[in-house]
Amino acid sequence: MHTTKKIAVVPGDGIGKEVIPIALEVIRATGAPVEFTEFDWSADRYLKDGTTIPAGGFEMLARDFDAIFVGALGDPRVKTNIHAKEILLGMRFRMDLYANVRPVKLLDAALCPLKNVTPEMVNFTVIRENTEGVYMDMGGVFKRDTPDEVATQEDINTRKGVERVIRFAFGYARKHGRKKVLMADKSNVMSYAGGLWQKVFNEVSGDYSDLTPQHMYVDALCLQMVREPQSLEVIVTNNMFGDIITDLAAALQGGLGMAASGNIHPGKTSMFEPVHGSAPPLAGKNVANPVGAILSAALMLEHLGYGSEARKIEDAVSAAVREKKLTSDVGGNMGTREVADWIRGQIR
Ligand code: NAD
Ligand code: IPM
Ligand code: MN
Repeated sequence: MHTTKKIAVVPGDGIGKEVIPIALEVIRATGAPVEFTEFDWSADRYLKDGTTIPAGGFEMLARDFDAIFVGALGDPRVKTNIHAKEILLGMRFRMDLYANVRPVKLLDAALCPLKNVTPEMVNFTVIRENTEGVYMDMGGVFKRDTPDEVATQEDINTRKGVERVIRFAFGYARKHGRKKVLMADKSNVMSYAGGLWQKVFNEVSGDYSDLTPQHMYVDALCLQMVREPQSLEVIVTNNMFGDIITDLAAALQGGLGMAASGNIHPGKTSMFEPVHGSAPPLAGKNVANPVGAILSAALMLEHLGYGSEARKIEDAVSAAVREKKLTSDVGGNMGTREVADWIRGQIR
Protein backbone atom coordinates (compact mmCIF):
# COMPACT_ATOMS: atom_id res chain seq x y z
CA MET A 1 0.00 0.00 0.00
CA HIS A 2 1.36 3.37 -1.01
CA THR A 3 1.03 6.47 1.08
CA THR A 4 1.51 9.86 -0.54
CA LYS A 5 5.12 11.00 -0.29
CA LYS A 6 5.98 14.65 0.10
CA ILE A 7 8.70 16.02 -2.13
CA ALA A 8 10.39 19.41 -1.75
CA VAL A 9 11.37 20.82 -5.13
CA VAL A 10 14.17 23.35 -5.65
CA PRO A 11 14.60 24.08 -9.38
CA GLY A 12 17.39 26.58 -8.58
CA ASP A 13 19.17 28.43 -11.38
CA GLY A 14 19.68 28.35 -15.13
CA ILE A 15 18.61 25.14 -16.85
CA GLY A 16 17.48 23.75 -13.47
CA LYS A 17 14.40 25.94 -13.90
CA GLU A 18 13.66 24.24 -17.23
CA VAL A 19 14.46 20.60 -16.58
CA ILE A 20 12.93 20.26 -13.10
CA PRO A 21 9.31 21.30 -13.83
CA ILE A 22 9.14 18.93 -16.80
CA ALA A 23 10.71 16.10 -14.80
CA LEU A 24 7.84 16.63 -12.32
CA GLU A 25 5.37 16.12 -15.17
CA VAL A 26 7.10 12.84 -16.01
CA ILE A 27 6.81 11.74 -12.36
CA ARG A 28 3.09 12.61 -12.38
CA ALA A 29 2.58 10.52 -15.50
CA THR A 30 3.77 7.40 -13.65
CA GLY A 31 0.89 7.74 -11.22
CA ALA A 32 3.21 7.59 -8.20
CA PRO A 33 1.37 9.08 -5.22
CA VAL A 34 3.53 12.11 -4.56
CA GLU A 35 2.89 15.70 -3.65
CA PHE A 36 5.27 18.49 -4.64
CA THR A 37 6.07 21.72 -2.76
CA GLU A 38 8.24 24.14 -4.67
CA PHE A 39 10.82 26.47 -3.10
CA ASP A 40 12.33 29.45 -4.92
CA TRP A 41 15.79 29.24 -3.33
CA SER A 42 18.08 30.39 -6.13
CA ALA A 43 20.28 33.21 -7.36
CA ASP A 44 17.17 35.27 -8.20
CA ARG A 45 15.90 34.98 -4.65
CA TYR A 46 19.33 35.71 -3.18
CA LEU A 47 19.76 38.83 -5.32
CA LYS A 48 16.26 39.98 -4.38
CA ASP A 49 16.33 39.64 -0.60
CA GLY A 50 19.63 38.05 0.43
CA THR A 51 18.06 34.69 1.34
CA THR A 52 20.04 31.58 0.50
CA ILE A 53 18.18 29.12 2.71
CA PRO A 54 15.76 30.55 5.26
CA ALA A 55 16.33 30.04 8.99
CA GLY A 56 15.24 26.54 10.00
CA GLY A 57 15.15 25.47 6.32
CA PHE A 58 17.11 22.24 6.69
CA GLU A 59 15.15 21.21 9.78
CA MET A 60 11.92 21.89 7.89
CA LEU A 61 13.05 19.76 4.92
CA ALA A 62 14.03 16.88 7.20
CA ARG A 63 10.80 17.09 9.21
CA ASP A 64 8.18 17.76 6.56
CA PHE A 65 9.43 15.96 3.45
CA ASP A 66 10.25 12.44 2.30
CA ALA A 67 12.69 13.58 -0.39
CA ILE A 68 14.13 16.68 -2.04
CA PHE A 69 14.47 17.21 -5.80
CA VAL A 70 16.99 19.84 -6.88
CA GLY A 71 17.88 21.28 -10.30
CA ALA A 72 21.18 23.16 -10.18
CA LEU A 73 22.65 26.15 -8.39
CA GLY A 74 25.17 28.58 -9.81
CA ASP A 75 24.75 31.95 -11.50
CA PRO A 76 27.35 34.28 -12.99
CA ARG A 77 25.73 37.21 -11.16
CA VAL A 78 26.64 35.66 -7.80
CA LYS A 79 30.42 35.67 -8.04
CA THR A 80 30.99 34.20 -4.57
CA ASN A 81 28.68 31.26 -5.35
CA ILE A 82 27.50 31.69 -1.75
CA HIS A 83 23.90 30.69 -2.46
CA ALA A 84 24.99 27.44 -4.14
CA LYS A 85 27.29 26.64 -1.25
CA GLU A 86 24.63 27.33 1.34
CA ILE A 87 21.76 25.60 -0.47
CA LEU A 88 23.29 22.64 -2.31
CA LEU A 89 26.33 21.91 -0.14
CA GLY A 90 24.19 22.96 2.83
CA MET A 91 21.74 20.14 2.12
CA ARG A 92 24.54 17.63 1.65
CA PHE A 93 26.43 18.64 4.81
CA ARG A 94 23.78 19.88 7.23
CA MET A 95 21.36 17.07 6.41
CA ASP A 96 24.31 14.65 6.57
CA LEU A 97 23.57 13.04 3.16
CA TYR A 98 26.81 11.12 3.24
CA ALA A 99 26.54 8.89 0.18
CA ASN A 100 26.43 10.55 -3.23
CA VAL A 101 25.26 7.76 -5.53
CA ARG A 102 26.04 8.33 -9.20
CA PRO A 103 25.08 5.47 -11.51
CA VAL A 104 26.97 5.36 -14.81
CA LYS A 105 25.03 3.56 -17.49
CA LEU A 106 25.48 3.80 -21.24
CA LEU A 107 22.07 3.54 -22.92
CA ASP A 108 23.26 3.40 -26.54
CA ALA A 109 26.68 2.87 -28.13
CA ALA A 110 26.20 6.02 -30.21
CA LEU A 111 26.29 8.16 -27.04
CA CYS A 112 29.74 7.00 -25.94
CA PRO A 113 32.77 8.90 -27.23
CA LEU A 114 34.86 5.71 -27.05
CA LYS A 115 35.26 3.35 -30.01
CA ASN A 116 33.77 -0.16 -29.96
CA VAL A 117 32.04 0.26 -26.63
CA THR A 118 28.62 -1.32 -26.16
CA PRO A 119 26.05 -0.45 -23.46
CA GLU A 120 26.83 -3.66 -21.50
CA MET A 121 30.39 -2.39 -21.11
CA VAL A 122 29.50 0.82 -19.26
CA ASN A 123 27.39 -0.03 -16.25
CA PHE A 124 28.87 0.88 -12.88
CA THR A 125 28.12 3.14 -9.92
CA VAL A 126 30.28 5.67 -8.12
CA ILE A 127 29.60 6.13 -4.40
CA ARG A 128 31.13 9.47 -3.51
CA GLU A 129 31.70 10.52 0.12
CA ASN A 130 29.55 13.62 0.40
CA THR A 131 30.10 15.30 3.77
CA GLU A 132 33.86 15.68 4.35
CA GLY A 133 37.20 15.93 2.56
CA VAL A 134 38.43 19.19 1.08
CA TYR A 135 34.78 20.24 0.64
CA MET A 136 34.74 21.31 4.31
CA ASP A 137 36.73 24.29 3.00
CA MET A 138 38.92 24.40 6.09
CA GLY A 139 42.18 26.23 5.76
CA GLY A 140 43.52 29.71 5.66
CA VAL A 141 45.81 32.25 4.18
CA PHE A 142 48.88 33.69 5.83
CA LYS A 143 50.78 36.79 4.65
CA ARG A 144 48.05 37.48 2.12
CA ASP A 145 49.02 39.59 -0.89
CA THR A 146 52.71 39.44 -0.13
CA PRO A 147 55.37 37.51 -2.01
CA ASP A 148 55.38 35.09 0.95
CA GLU A 149 51.66 34.30 0.79
CA VAL A 150 50.76 30.85 2.12
CA ALA A 151 47.43 29.10 1.45
CA THR A 152 46.40 25.87 3.15
CA GLN A 153 43.40 23.67 2.38
CA GLU A 154 42.68 20.82 4.73
CA ASP A 155 41.42 17.39 3.73
CA ILE A 156 39.12 16.19 6.53
CA ASN A 157 38.65 12.43 6.85
CA THR A 158 36.96 11.01 9.94
CA ARG A 159 36.87 7.38 10.96
CA LYS A 160 33.07 7.59 11.17
CA GLY A 161 32.67 9.32 7.79
CA VAL A 162 35.01 6.98 5.94
CA GLU A 163 33.54 3.85 7.50
CA ARG A 164 29.91 4.67 6.84
CA VAL A 165 30.41 5.45 3.15
CA ILE A 166 32.50 2.32 2.62
CA ARG A 167 29.82 0.23 4.36
CA PHE A 168 27.20 1.94 2.19
CA ALA A 169 29.16 0.94 -0.95
CA PHE A 170 29.37 -2.71 0.11
CA GLY A 171 25.67 -2.72 1.01
CA TYR A 172 24.83 -1.10 -2.32
CA ALA A 173 26.87 -3.74 -4.18
CA ARG A 174 25.05 -6.54 -2.39
CA LYS A 175 21.64 -5.03 -2.97
CA HIS A 176 22.33 -4.53 -6.67
CA GLY A 177 23.83 -7.96 -7.34
CA ARG A 178 27.35 -6.66 -7.87
CA LYS A 179 30.43 -8.71 -7.03
CA LYS A 180 33.22 -6.15 -6.62
CA VAL A 181 33.81 -2.92 -4.69
CA LEU A 182 36.74 -0.79 -5.73
CA MET A 183 38.14 1.88 -3.38
CA ALA A 184 40.07 4.66 -5.10
CA ASP A 185 42.44 7.00 -3.25
CA LYS A 186 45.81 8.61 -3.61
CA SER A 187 47.42 6.94 -0.62
CA ASN A 188 50.78 6.85 -2.36
CA VAL A 189 51.08 10.59 -1.71
CA MET A 190 48.30 11.49 0.76
CA SER A 191 49.45 8.97 3.32
CA TYR A 192 47.44 10.12 6.36
CA ALA A 193 44.02 10.33 4.74
CA GLY A 194 44.81 7.45 2.40
CA GLY A 195 46.02 5.38 5.33
CA LEU A 196 42.68 5.77 7.08
CA TRP A 197 40.74 4.84 3.92
CA GLN A 198 42.99 1.80 3.38
CA LYS A 199 42.66 0.58 6.95
CA VAL A 200 38.89 1.01 7.09
CA PHE A 201 38.35 -0.51 3.64
CA ASN A 202 40.34 -3.60 4.62
CA GLU A 203 38.43 -3.97 7.88
CA VAL A 204 34.98 -3.44 6.40
CA SER A 205 35.60 -5.74 3.43
CA GLY A 206 36.05 -8.55 5.96
CA ASP A 207 32.36 -8.24 6.82
CA TYR A 208 31.40 -8.79 3.16
CA SER A 209 33.17 -12.01 2.23
CA ASP A 210 30.76 -12.51 -0.70
CA LEU A 211 32.19 -9.40 -2.39
CA THR A 212 35.66 -8.85 -3.84
CA PRO A 213 37.46 -5.73 -2.56
CA GLN A 214 39.76 -3.95 -4.98
CA HIS A 215 41.95 -0.88 -4.74
CA MET A 216 43.28 1.57 -7.33
CA TYR A 217 44.99 4.91 -7.19
CA VAL A 218 42.54 7.43 -8.55
CA ASP A 219 44.77 8.46 -11.46
CA ALA A 220 45.07 4.85 -12.60
CA LEU A 221 41.31 4.51 -12.21
CA CYS A 222 40.79 7.37 -14.69
CA LEU A 223 42.78 5.42 -17.25
CA GLN A 224 40.82 2.26 -16.45
CA MET A 225 37.47 4.07 -16.82
CA VAL A 226 38.39 4.92 -20.38
CA ARG A 227 40.33 1.78 -21.35
CA GLU A 228 38.27 -0.92 -19.65
CA PRO A 229 35.01 0.46 -18.23
CA GLN A 230 33.55 -3.07 -18.33
CA SER A 231 35.81 -4.05 -15.41
CA LEU A 232 34.06 -1.64 -13.03
CA GLU A 233 31.06 -2.36 -10.79
CA VAL A 234 30.97 -0.21 -7.63
CA ILE A 235 33.57 2.47 -6.90
CA VAL A 236 33.84 4.20 -3.52
CA THR A 237 35.99 7.29 -3.08
CA ASN A 238 36.30 10.61 -1.30
CA ASN A 239 34.37 13.78 -2.04
CA MET A 240 36.80 15.50 -4.40
CA PHE A 241 37.92 12.43 -6.33
CA GLY A 242 34.28 11.41 -6.61
CA ASP A 243 33.40 14.81 -8.05
CA ILE A 244 36.11 14.61 -10.69
CA ILE A 245 35.65 11.00 -11.79
CA THR A 246 31.88 11.41 -12.14
CA ASP A 247 32.31 14.11 -14.78
CA LEU A 248 34.59 11.70 -16.66
CA ALA A 249 32.01 8.98 -16.09
CA ALA A 250 29.27 11.29 -17.37
CA ALA A 251 31.20 11.63 -20.62
CA LEU A 252 31.10 7.83 -21.03
CA GLN A 253 27.30 7.99 -20.85
CA GLY A 254 26.92 10.76 -23.40
CA GLY A 255 27.70 13.84 -21.33
CA LEU A 256 26.52 15.70 -18.28
CA GLY A 257 23.03 15.94 -19.71
CA MET A 258 22.55 12.19 -19.17
CA ALA A 259 23.88 11.76 -15.62
CA ALA A 260 21.73 11.31 -12.51
CA SER A 261 22.46 11.24 -8.79
CA GLY A 262 21.11 10.75 -5.29
CA ASN A 263 22.49 12.24 -2.08
CA ILE A 264 21.53 9.67 0.50
CA HIS A 265 21.50 9.04 4.21
CA PRO A 266 19.51 5.85 4.76
CA GLY A 267 16.47 6.59 6.88
CA LYS A 268 16.75 10.38 6.52
CA THR A 269 15.22 12.76 3.97
CA SER A 270 17.51 12.39 0.95
CA MET A 271 18.11 14.62 -2.06
CA PHE A 272 18.13 13.84 -5.79
CA GLU A 273 19.61 15.99 -8.56
CA PRO A 274 21.08 15.75 -12.04
CA VAL A 275 24.90 15.77 -12.00
CA HIS A 276 25.05 18.77 -14.34
CA GLY A 277 25.15 22.41 -13.28
CA SER A 278 23.05 25.39 -14.27
CA ALA A 279 24.73 25.74 -17.70
CA PRO A 280 24.10 29.51 -17.95
CA PRO A 281 24.80 29.73 -21.71
CA LEU A 282 22.02 27.19 -22.40
CA ALA A 283 19.44 28.60 -19.98
CA GLY A 284 16.06 29.68 -21.33
CA LYS A 285 16.74 28.36 -24.84
CA ASN A 286 14.89 25.03 -24.71
CA VAL A 287 18.11 23.20 -25.59
CA ALA A 288 19.16 21.61 -22.27
CA ASN A 289 19.00 17.83 -22.09
CA PRO A 290 16.27 16.91 -19.56
CA VAL A 291 17.34 13.24 -19.26
CA GLY A 292 19.70 13.70 -16.27
CA ALA A 293 16.88 15.32 -14.30
CA ILE A 294 14.33 12.73 -15.44
CA LEU A 295 16.61 9.81 -14.49
CA SER A 296 17.26 11.51 -11.12
CA ALA A 297 13.50 11.54 -10.63
CA ALA A 298 13.52 7.77 -11.28
CA LEU A 299 16.25 7.29 -8.65
CA MET A 300 14.11 9.28 -6.22
CA LEU A 301 10.99 7.19 -6.89
CA GLU A 302 13.01 3.99 -6.45
CA HIS A 303 14.35 5.32 -3.13
CA LEU A 304 10.82 6.17 -1.99
CA GLY A 305 9.69 2.62 -2.68
CA TYR A 306 8.03 3.24 -6.02
CA GLY A 307 10.15 0.81 -8.00
CA SER A 308 7.67 0.01 -10.75
CA GLU A 309 7.08 3.73 -11.37
CA ALA A 310 10.86 4.25 -11.55
CA ARG A 311 11.13 1.41 -14.11
CA LYS A 312 8.47 3.10 -16.25
CA ILE A 313 10.62 6.24 -16.41
CA GLU A 314 13.81 4.33 -17.17
CA ASP A 315 12.10 2.35 -19.92
CA ALA A 316 10.69 5.53 -21.46
CA VAL A 317 14.15 7.15 -21.42
CA SER A 318 15.67 4.04 -23.02
CA ALA A 319 13.02 4.23 -25.74
CA ALA A 320 13.84 7.91 -26.35
CA VAL A 321 17.51 7.04 -26.73
CA ARG A 322 16.73 4.14 -29.07
CA GLU A 323 14.46 6.29 -31.24
CA LYS A 324 16.81 9.29 -31.07
CA LYS A 325 14.18 11.53 -29.49
CA LEU A 326 16.99 13.58 -27.99
CA THR A 327 18.49 17.05 -27.58
CA SER A 328 21.48 18.16 -29.65
CA ASP A 329 24.16 17.51 -26.98
CA VAL A 330 23.49 13.78 -27.51
CA GLY A 331 23.00 13.87 -31.26
CA GLY A 332 19.28 14.60 -31.47
CA ASN A 333 17.46 17.54 -33.00
CA MET A 334 14.68 18.13 -30.46
CA GLY A 335 14.19 20.72 -27.74
CA THR A 336 14.07 20.21 -23.97
CA ARG A 337 10.28 20.39 -23.85
CA GLU A 338 9.79 18.13 -26.89
CA VAL A 339 12.08 15.40 -25.52
CA ALA A 340 10.38 15.48 -22.14
CA ASP A 341 6.92 15.39 -23.73
CA TRP A 342 7.95 12.40 -25.84
CA ILE A 343 9.27 10.57 -22.78
CA ARG A 344 6.13 11.41 -20.82
CA GLY A 345 4.00 10.13 -23.70
CA GLN A 346 5.68 6.71 -23.45
CA ILE A 347 4.59 6.24 -19.86
CA ARG A 348 1.43 4.23 -19.27
P1 NAD B 1 27.60 22.70 -16.20
O1 NAD B 1 27.25 21.31 -15.82
O2 NAD B 1 26.56 23.71 -16.00
O3 NAD B 1 28.06 22.70 -17.73
C1 NAD B 1 29.19 21.98 -18.20
C2 NAD B 1 29.04 21.68 -19.71
O4 NAD B 1 28.03 20.70 -19.90
C3 NAD B 1 28.61 22.90 -20.52
O5 NAD B 1 29.20 22.79 -21.79
C4 NAD B 1 27.11 22.72 -20.62
O6 NAD B 1 26.57 23.35 -21.75
C5 NAD B 1 26.97 21.21 -20.68
N1 NAD B 1 25.71 20.76 -20.07
C6 NAD B 1 25.46 20.68 -18.73
N2 NAD B 1 24.21 20.23 -18.52
C7 NAD B 1 23.67 20.04 -19.74
C8 NAD B 1 22.41 19.60 -20.17
N3 NAD B 1 21.43 19.26 -19.31
N4 NAD B 1 22.18 19.53 -21.50
C9 NAD B 1 23.13 19.83 -22.37
N5 NAD B 1 24.37 20.25 -22.02
C10 NAD B 1 24.62 20.36 -20.72
O7 NAD B 1 28.93 23.06 -15.40
P2 NAD B 1 29.76 24.44 -15.35
O8 NAD B 1 29.67 25.14 -16.64
O9 NAD B 1 31.07 24.07 -14.79
O10 NAD B 1 29.01 25.29 -14.23
C11 NAD B 1 27.96 26.24 -14.47
C12 NAD B 1 27.39 26.66 -13.11
O11 NAD B 1 26.73 25.55 -12.50
C13 NAD B 1 28.46 27.11 -12.11
O12 NAD B 1 27.91 28.14 -11.35
C14 NAD B 1 28.70 25.87 -11.27
O13 NAD B 1 29.21 26.15 -9.98
C15 NAD B 1 27.30 25.31 -11.21
N6 NAD B 1 27.22 23.85 -10.95
C16 NAD B 1 26.20 23.44 -10.16
C17 NAD B 1 26.00 22.09 -9.95
C18 NAD B 1 24.89 21.65 -9.10
O14 NAD B 1 24.04 22.46 -8.74
N7 NAD B 1 24.79 20.39 -8.76
C19 NAD B 1 26.85 21.16 -10.58
C20 NAD B 1 27.88 21.62 -11.41
C21 NAD B 1 28.05 22.99 -11.60
C1 IPM C 1 28.60 18.36 -8.37
C2 IPM C 1 29.05 19.79 -8.50
C3 IPM C 1 29.22 20.42 -7.12
C4 IPM C 1 30.32 19.66 -6.41
C5 IPM C 1 29.55 21.92 -7.13
C6 IPM C 1 28.50 22.72 -7.86
C7 IPM C 1 29.71 22.47 -5.74
O1 IPM C 1 30.21 19.89 -9.26
O2 IPM C 1 27.53 18.12 -7.80
O3 IPM C 1 29.29 17.47 -8.88
O4 IPM C 1 31.50 19.97 -6.56
O5 IPM C 1 29.97 18.74 -5.68
MN1 MN D 1 30.81 17.99 -10.15
